[in-house]
Amino acid sequence: MRAKAAVLWGLKESWQIEEVELDDPEPQEVLVSMVAAGLCHSDEHLVTGDIPIALPAVGGHEGAGVVEKVGARVTSVQVGDHVVMSFIPSCGRCRPCASGHQNLCDLGRHLMLGTPIANGIHRMRAKGQGLAPMSLVGCFASHQVLHEASVIKIDPDIGLDKAALVSCGVATGWGSAVHTARVEPGDVVVVVGVGGIGSNAVQGARNAGARAIVAVDPVELKRQSAQRFGATHTASDVFEAYSLVNDLTRGELADSAIITTDVARGDLLGPVLSLVRKGGAVVVTAIAPFSQAEVTLSLFELTLWQKEVRGSLFGGGNPRVDIPKILTLYREGDVLLDELITRTYPLAGINEGYQDMRDGRNVRGLLVFD
Ligand SMILES: NC(=O)c1ccc[n+]([C@@H]2O[C@H](COP(=O)([O-])OP(=O)(O)OC[C@H]3O[C@@H](n4cnc5c(N)ncnc54)[C@H](O)[C@@H]3O)[C@@H](O)[C@H]2O)c1
Ligand SMILES: [Zn+2]
Ligand SMILES: [Zn+2]
Repeated sequence: MRAKAAVLWGLKESWQIEEVELDDPEPQEVLVSMVAAGLCHSDEHLVTGDIPIALPAVGGHEGAGVVEKVGARVTSVQVGDHVVMSFIPSCGRCRPCASGHQNLCDLGRHLMLGTPIANGIHRMRAKGQGLAPMSLVGCFASHQVLHEASVIKIDPDIGLDKAALVSCGVATGWGSAVHTARVEPGDVVVVVGVGGIGSNAVQGARNAGARAIVAVDPVELKRQSAQRFGATHTASDVFEAYSLVNDLTRGELADSAIITTDVARGDLLGPVLSLVRKGGAVVVTAIAPFSQAEVTLSLFELTLWQKEVRGSLFGGGNPRVDIPKILTLYREGDVLLDELITRTYPLAGINEGYQDMRDGRNVRGLLVFD
């Protein structure tokens, strides 16, 4: 069939809207008609080359839509089902999946190659070239063919525009606090960078019972919006946050700090490590450039105050558990989704949407398909 998609042909270029050819689904695949897709910073990492996937690529890994066709061996969804994409495919059988770590599923080996799990042949083509789907999802497209492992059925009463956000940003941020930082009632938590992911780390920390949540961001709009999601205090940089946290805890310092800045920088880790107490943890959710290998932090402090630095992929959660759970929290008013969407764009407005993200104008921009 013919579809429309936002394609990245080369590094540091803008997204081009192309008419594309899309194949029928293979036996374990589904055809999804997209309804909405979030403008997560991770797709910007494709543009900058921080995440080195093969180009040309069709972007988008945070989305939701309706199943239009299913392959003969698909068992988990039917035509007409509402689905949220999972940027981490999960097989349910590999060692990580079987031990409750679906976010680390071995199917993840296909992510950077961008080649379909079923047979390695691209399903989408433009100008005669195969297009690698970002995170095997590629939801900056009117339609997409995805492996069953990359889609999760959800209840039809939840708006697919809101559900799209839970696909990556909400689940990743929320889980960074709940699963990776392991926030407990009464904790003091710092979230460094309160855009699409960090705002949801704030929500996760609030759900987990934190008594104080310090949102750090140089952009005033982000500091203000973080308060709607549960931030009790704000600071424009880590050093300002230090004196706040010091006062809030009588010098004990924060239980955990979560880094959700646009790009993970090696020189930020040291100051953030200094925000947490003895035995405290720093969670790194932001993604650094692939080639970035240097980090500055006090190893003395790490060892003698027994601090921890923890990476977090998909918030350390299980997509098939956390996505439905967060949607239930939304339905019950405990997680806010509507307030995350600053502005919506048609597919053709994608470059404007990303410019708004770079300029700090959006908590989350959202593409909405016709
Ligand atoms: N680990 C994962 O599974 C995962 C999943 C999705 C996204 N990510 C990554 O998370 C990061 C955040 O993504 P996003 O979509 O929220 O981006 P975003 O652009 O919406 O938000 C980033 C925020 O960081 C702020 N910021 C920049 N420098 C800062 C600093 N020095 N101190 C404090 N705040 C600062 C910006 O003002 C902005 O508000 C990106 O690196 C993205 O790739 C990781
Ligand atoms: Zn994302
Ligand atoms: Zn698996």
